[in-house]
Amino acid sequence: MEYIEDEIARLKKEKNAVILAHYYVPDEVQEIADFIGDSFYLSKKANETNAGTIVFAGVRFMGESAKILNPDKTVLMPDITADCPMAHMITPGQIEAMRQKYDDLAVVCYINSTAEIKTYCDVCVTSSNAVKIIRKLPQKNIYFVPDKNLGYYVGTQVPEKNVICNDGYCPRHNAIDPEYVKKCQHDHPNALFLAHPECPKEVLAMADYIGSTSGIIQYATESPEREFIIGTENGVMYELSTRNPDKKFYPAMEYQYCINMKKVTLEKVRNCLRDGSGEIHVPDDVRCKSLQALERMLELAQ
Ligand code: 13P
Ligand code: SF4
Repeated sequence: MEYIEDEIARLKKEKNAVILAHYYVPDEVQEIADFIGDSFYLSKKANETNAGTIVFAGVRFMGESAKILNPDKTVLMPDITADCPMAHMITPGQIEAMRQKYDDLAVVCYINSTAEIKTYCDVCVTSSNAVKIIRKLPQKNIYFVPDKNLGYYVGTQVPEKNVICNDGYCPRHNAIDPEYVKKCQHDHPNALFLAHPECPKEVLAMADYIGSTSGIIQYATESPEREFIIGTENGVMYELSTRNPDKKFYPAMEYQYCINMKKVTLEKVRNCLRDGSGEIHVPDDVRCKSLQALERMLELAQ
């Protein structure tokens, strides 16, 4: 009998496929991926690959972005229902209303947004490049959609801009409770607290370091400290402990799982490779317009 990991490796070769996995998918899926990373790293990899098929082990906006960047490639999602609720917390009408209000306005969308929303925006960002990109924009007023927490954080880092935030949020990060973090810090007095900017501002105020999933992993790996409280989805624990077997990592909250990222399983990766299921399609007009926002991100993030 063929093990599922071997079956995936065989199908991957047969189909000339590459597997990209976000740090939040289950450990065993990260283990068989060709590239694991944060949203920005994975969009760069999707942009660079020569493979004919991209299997995106992540949520829908990631697969959509890969397809927008690679219209001639087949992009497959192991579970097409794995979606980010925050991506739907902004409407075109809200953006149009804001454009009416300000002449000097840039609409910046977090990559955690639908392909349709990206067509209304000037540039896309991820949590690892938002500050850098917004600093480079010529406009004074920035409408940041859909994440209010990342928008707030960017505003603190770029005080020369007027950052107006929409009221979307990640249900997982937004639920990280400052009281629980306080308890964690009390229980582990030597631990540094590393938080993702999707956390609420009260939580960010308690952090020793704020950064994307890759930023958190890099910071913990390079730090001489031995203990860390981690304020993001628990999937990062896999890479954190692989790279740092002698360091200790504690979740900032008891239940820190993104149910959508956890829908991706080895069986579903195998099935989509074998059957060609879960293919992402983006209509041409949406693709062309949303490509501009993604390409501008790749250019300005350099
Ligand atoms: P990063 O991958 O940019 O750290 O963002 C985390 C996230 O929530 C992805 O959905
Ligand atoms: Fe969306 Fe939050 Fe899940 Fe990331 S962790 S995919 S922002 S719900």
